[in-house]
Amino acid sequence: MITVIGSLNMDLIVQMDAFPKQGETILGQAFQTVPGGKGANQAVAAARLGHEVAMIGCVGKDSFGEALRSVLQQEHIQTGAIVSSPSALTGIANILIYNNDNRIVVVPGANYELSPSHLEASKHLIQKSQMVIIQLEIPKETTAYAIRMCKEAGVPILLNPAPAANFDVQWMEDITYLTPNETECAEIFNEPIDHLLEKYPNKLIITLGSDGARYSDGTYPIHVPGYMTTAVDTTGAGDTFNGALAYALVEGQSLDEAVYFANIAASLSVEKFSAQGGMPTLDAVFARMAGF
Ligand code: RIB
Ligand code: NA
Repeated sequence: MITVIGSLNMDLIVQMDAFPKQGETILGQAFQTVPGGKGANQAVAAARLGHEVAMIGCVGKDSFGEALRSVLQQEHIQTGAIVSSPSALTGIANILIYNNDNRIVVVPGANYELSPSHLEASKHLIQKSQMVIIQLEIPKETTAYAIRMCKEAGVPILLNPAPAANFDVQWMEDITYLTPNETECAEIFNEPIDHLLEKYPNKLIITLGSDGARYSDGTYPIHVPGYMTTAVDTTGAGDTFNGALAYALVEGQSLDEAVYFANIAASLSVEKFSAQGGMPTLDAVFARMAGF
């Protein structure tokens, strides 16, 4: 089982012909509310591939919270450890999309009410997990607590450091895999990439968008190329990568195979609208690998 500790957001998406300039009002093309949040997205990515997934998170007592819970249930994700905040509203992400490019503002709301005591209450899930996935759209102290719990239970951690401002470099010792993109990597470490890869072999996996990902196996730097495709909406591509990477590692693939698998899954995800919309099934990933 994979447990995801993280955020659930309702994504409020506006598609437009141009981004508004400061002080400018423009007309958008379309508006949609779709399920998102890095935590929920990564849970869906792993579940759609066929793994048993549980989610630990916090939503508000409102219609968005209800909707997000039921979407995860439809994906066969265990939602018993998703608590409801008595006061905060469900997190939202305001997403502006123009020309394959997006700008996102997240209001965490109830996600920032997820506390160490909630994690304690779900200790049984963490203890029986083969891997725990964490991102950083929850309070920093909760992330720190989660890492400690996993360490004590001997459960490997895949940490996706987004947003990077909520990362603490001291965590490097206790986490198993860290998956920043290049921007996040620069924000966290402020060291040359080649040096970092050598310093954290088989742990630091830097994602490069359509160019794939890089890591070091301890001897050589490895670049796992991405799969070239035409992107419709790249929102959630990183989340697909992370969910798929966890899936592949838990299924026993080597790191090299798992990163390749995750790249393929991410390439499929960007071909459809919204974060969760294009997340592939296992068959779809295998079909692309086989060249269909
Ligand atoms: O990674 C994409 C996600 O980031 C969106 O679904 C949005 O909710 C934000 O959390
Ligand atoms: Na997508």
